Amino acid sequence: MKTVLTDNVNTAAKIIINSGIVAFPTETVYGLGANVFDVKALNKIFKVKGREKDNPLIVHISSKSQLDFLSSEISSSAKKLINAFFPGALTIILQRNELIPGLVTANLNTVAVRMPSSKAARSFIQRCGVPIAAPSANISGSPSPTTYKHVLEDFNGKTLCILKGPDSKYGIESTVVDCSVEIPVVLRPGAITIEELKKVIPGIKYRKKHQVVKSPGLKYKHYSPKAKIQIIKTPDEIKSKVYKTAYIGLGKTGKDKMKLLSRIQICNNVGQYAKKLFWFFRICDNEKIDLIYVQKIPESGIGLAIMNRVKKALK
Ligand code: TXA
Ligand code: MG
Repeated sequence: MKTVLTDNVNTAAKIIINSGIVAFPTETVYGLGANVFDVKALNKIFKVKGREKDNPLIVHISSKSQLDFLSSEISSSAKKLINAFFPGALTIILQRNELIPGLVTANLNTVAVRMPSSKAARSFIQRCGVPIAAPSANISGSPSPTTYKHVLEDFNGKTLCILKGPDSKYGIESTVVDCSVEIPVVLRPGAITIEELKKVIPGIKYRKKHQVVKSPGLKYKHYSPKAKIQIIKTPDEIKSKVYKTAYIGLGKTGKDKMKLLSRIQICNNVGQYAKKLFWFFRICDNEKIDLIYVQKIPESGIGLAIMNRVKKALK
């Protein structure tokens, strides 16, 4: 089997049942999935993505009842978050059941679980009949895919299936919250904002610097386009004539600045900024842009996740 592109859920589910891997749409970004209990298939994910094995995967479920396969210890704070945000763009970390292969959890004693709100994702998982372990469907290090075409760009010719579906609604990954500790901690800011989480768990913690040990994936370089990135406060700071340059932000550029730019993405609001960020990085790669000016925005609401991804892409 080479790359199979389909919009048929049954075709995709059959491939999962036969130990294959399938990229599928979700409301955050596209995922690259395998049967959570199938070690042969799980190995294929790490190989095709070039992902380190110490970086655990998120397990995707189609109904809350599937949680019973994954964890027998659901804390009261986890229950509150499940009630408020499942299905949705929230991933929670729980104590794991013995049944789950160590490859999924990087041999940690916890497991990450998410129930997507995307109907396309849920009907696919349901058809598979098992929870689906999936990282984002990109080559490790490159920007996460927000359309099936991005998945094809990264994996065309590889042995996997791509389930075509809608473009991702948020365009940025889920928020990861550790519920295996007494007071839940946000390990990765994402599509669900801290302000929303605080309405349910007022004491929830978030520290910018102390997440790496708990969430191994955060130590890797991520989300990077090939171009150099420069963070600017306003478009007035754009000055390069030497490089092929692009700009993404909320602020409008003047005519004099437009002349310097090969590609401009002015976003109407922060939601659109989140949705367009990875998409824009990929366009810039395709157009061989050398330098992308990215406008800094306040780190509140979805702005926290946007700036988190931009800073990771810098390193
Ligand atoms: O929106 C999303 O979360 C997407 C879609 C496909 O669901 N998935 C995604 O997966 O972004 P990935 O593998 O690119 O990022 C998962 C993050 C990594 O930083 C990983 O280290 C962390 O979740 N993670 C997974 N299991 C964990 C665990 N048991 N403890 C701590 N962190 C964990
Ligand atoms: Mg990823």
